Amino acid sequence: MIDQATIDRIMDAARIEEVIGDYITLKKRGANYTACCPFHNEKTPSFSVSPARGIFKCFGCGKAGTAVTFVMAHENTTYWEALKVVAKKYGVDVKERELSPEEQQHNNDRESMMITAAYAQDYFTKTLHNHVDGKNIGMAYFAERGFTKATIDKFQLGYCLDSRAAFSNTALRDGYKKEFLVKTGLSVERNNGELIDRFFGRVIFPIHSVSGRVVGFGGRTLKSDKSVPKYVNSPESEIYHKSNTLYGIYFAKKAMMQSDKCFLVEGYTDVISMHQAGIGNAVASSGTSLTADQIRLIKRFTPNVTVLYDGDAAGIKASLRGIDMLLEEGLNVKTLLLPDGEDPDSFAKSRSVTEFTDFISQHEEDFISFKTKILLSDSKNDPIRRAEVITDMVRSIAVIPEAIPRSVYIRECSKLMEIGEDVLTGEVAKLRRKKLYDDARDAPRPREPQPTAAAGDAAPPEAVHTPSIPAFVENIFCREQERELIYLLLRFGNQSCFSVRVSAYIINEIAGEDLSFQNLVYRQIFEEYRKLLEASETVDIRRFINHPDQKICELTIDLLSQKYTLSKIWKQPDTPDLEEDRLRVEVPKAINVYKSKIVTQAIMHLQLELEGKSGEELDALLLKLGELNKVRTKLSEMLARPVF
Ligand code: CTP
Ligand code: MN
Repeated sequence: MIDQATIDRIMDAARIEEVIGDYITLKKRGANYTACCPFHNEKTPSFSVSPARGIFKCFGCGKAGTAVTFVMAHENTTYWEALKVVAKKYGVDVKERELSPEEQQHNNDRESMMITAAYAQDYFTKTLHNHVDGKNIGMAYFAERGFTKATIDKFQLGYCLDSRAAFSNTALRDGYKKEFLVKTGLSVERNNGELIDRFFGRVIFPIHSVSGRVVGFGGRTLKSDKSVPKYVNSPESEIYHKSNTLYGIYFAKKAMMQSDKCFLVEGYTDVISMHQAGIGNAVASSGTSLTADQIRLIKRFTPNVTVLYDGDAAGIKASLRGIDMLLEEGLNVKTLLLPDGEDPDSFAKSRSVTEFTDFISQHEEDFISFKTKILLSDSKNDPIRRAEVITDMVRSIAVIPEAIPRSVYIRECSKLMEIGEDVLTGEVAKLRRKKLYDDARDAPRPREPQPTAAAGDAAPPEAVHTPSIPAFVENIFCREQERELIYLLLRFGNQSCFSVRVSAYIINEIAGEDLSFQNLVYRQIFEEYRKLLEASETVDIRRFINHPDQKICELTIDLLSQKYTLSKIWKQPDTPDLEEDRLRVEVPKAINVYKSKIVTQAIMHLQLELEGKSGEELDALLLKLGELNKVRTKLSEMLARPVF
C-alpha cells in the first residue's frame, strides 16, 4: 500500500494543471484553465481545471475529479497506478510496503499534534470569551485595537492566562499527552519535567493551514516593556513549518481567486485589519523574509501580488528584497508604499473602506517605476547613480522567468531611464546566462575525477558565449541543427568544456535566451535533460535509452549508434570521447550554426515583410533588420574563426 503521508506528499506536490497539461493543451482563462474535453467529443471547450481547488470538471459530460483520477481515466489505470504516475512526475518517493510500526506511529503523531493544536485553539478562544481575565485583559485589548466581534470570531483569536501553567495543566487533565503538548510547542518542559505554557499572558493568533486546520500560534504580549519579545510563535514542528505557511491564507484564498490578486503584508494585525476593512485577499509572511515556498503558495491562487509594506526605511528595504524573489517565481509584482509611519493596520483603521481602496488603486505601481522612484529619489541627474539604478533594474528583470513580461519591463525601463531597449536586452541576456553558468558550477560535483581539474595552475578557460538572438525572433524549424545539438547533448553531455558540463553549456546557451527546439521529440529530450541536470550534475544516458516513450528511446539509440550521418565531424562510427580542446571548438560551433540558421531565416522573413511597408512600420522593421544583421555578422565571425 501507499501510506497516507506519501499520498499527501504527492497531492501537495501535484499541480493539476501541470499533470493534465501533459495530456491535453490547456488554455488559461482567469484563475482557471479550459480545454476541449478529452472524455467526450466536443468543438467548444467545456472542460475546466481549477488549480486552486486541484480539480477538473467537464460541464459538457459532467466528468470531474483530481489530478490522479484524470490520469486514471486517461490512461485507464487503477488509482494506485495513477498515483504512481503523478508521484514520478514530481519525484516523490513512493514506498510500497507495509508501514513499519514506527511509520504508523509517525502518521499518528502528526494527527495527534493537529488534534492537540485544535484543542488549544478552542481553549484559548474560550478563555478569551468566558474567563474574567480573558474578558478584562484579552478582549479589552482586541477592542482597543478596533477588532470587531465578527473579526475576533473569524480569526479564532484567543487569550492565554497570565499564570505559568494554566493551559498545560488543563490540557493534561483533559487527557492530552505531554509528548504532543511539547512537540507542538504549546508547552515547554522544564528540567524537572514540569510543563509551563509557552504563551502565558499573551493574546493568541492561531495560524491556519491552507485547508483551515490550526497548525501553530502567534502570541502577542500586552506589555509595552521593550525587553519582552512582542511576539512569541510556535516553534518549527512536524505540523508547522514557518517557511511554507502564510498567515491568513485559509481566509484569503477564495478572495484571492475571485479578485485574481493578493496583497502581501507583514504582520498578523495587518492581515486582520485589512480583512475587517473588506479587503479579504491579504496574507502575511509574518515578519520573516519571504520564502520560495510561500510564494508558490500564493501562486496556487493567483499570479498577481501587490506588496504592501510600511513606508519606513526598513519596510522599503524589505519590499525591495521580496520583489526579486516574487519576480523570480514568475509573479506579476506591484508595490504600494504607505505614508511614512503607517502600516496596513493603522492605515486601514484610520480610513474608510473606499478611502483605502482608492488609495490602493491610485498608488499601486509596478516594480520598475517603484524602483526608479526609490533608488533614484533625489539624485536624478547624477549619471553614476543613474547607471547604478539601471544595473539594479536589469538585475531584477533578468530573474523573471518568462520572456514576454521580461521584454515588457525592458521596454518600460528603457522609457523611464531613457536608455536603448537593445542595450537593456543585451545586458539582461548576459546576466541570465551568467546565472545559468553559476548555477551549473554550484551544482554538486560528481565523485569521479574531473577532467578539468587536471592541469596545474592554469585558470579555466573563459566560456565562449554565442551571440544572443533578439527576443522578437520566433523559433524557426531547423531540424538538422536541432538534431546535431541533441546528439552532442546525449553523447558528450557529461564531459567538460569551459569548466562546465557540455550539457550545461548547451542548455544555457539555448534555453538562456528562450530558444526552444521545434521538433517535439528533440524538445522533449532537451527539456527532460534540463530537468535531470537541475537535480544532479551528470545525467545517465540510460534514462533516454530505456525511455518509456518509444520515440525518445528510438531516437537516442539511432543517434548514439550513428545510424544517420551527422555533420562531417562525427562521420566515423562509434565516436570516441573527445578532448576538451576539441569540444570547446565543436560545441559552440554547433550552437552558432543553429543560431545562424535561425537568424538567416528570420532575416528572410523580415525582408518579405518589408514589401509595401512605409513610414513608422517600415522604420520598425528596418530597425529589427539592422539588429539581426549585426547578430549574423557576429555569428559568421565566430564561425570563421577556427579556434576560440
Ligand atoms: N514578529 C514576530 N516576532 C517579533 C516581532 C514580529 O514574529 N518579535 C512577526 C509577527 O508575525 C508580526 C510581524 O512580524 O505580526 C510584523 O511585526 P510588527 O509590525 O512588529 O507587528 P504587528 O503585527 O504590526 O503588531 P502590532 O501592530 O501589534 O504592533
Ligand atoms: Mn502593526
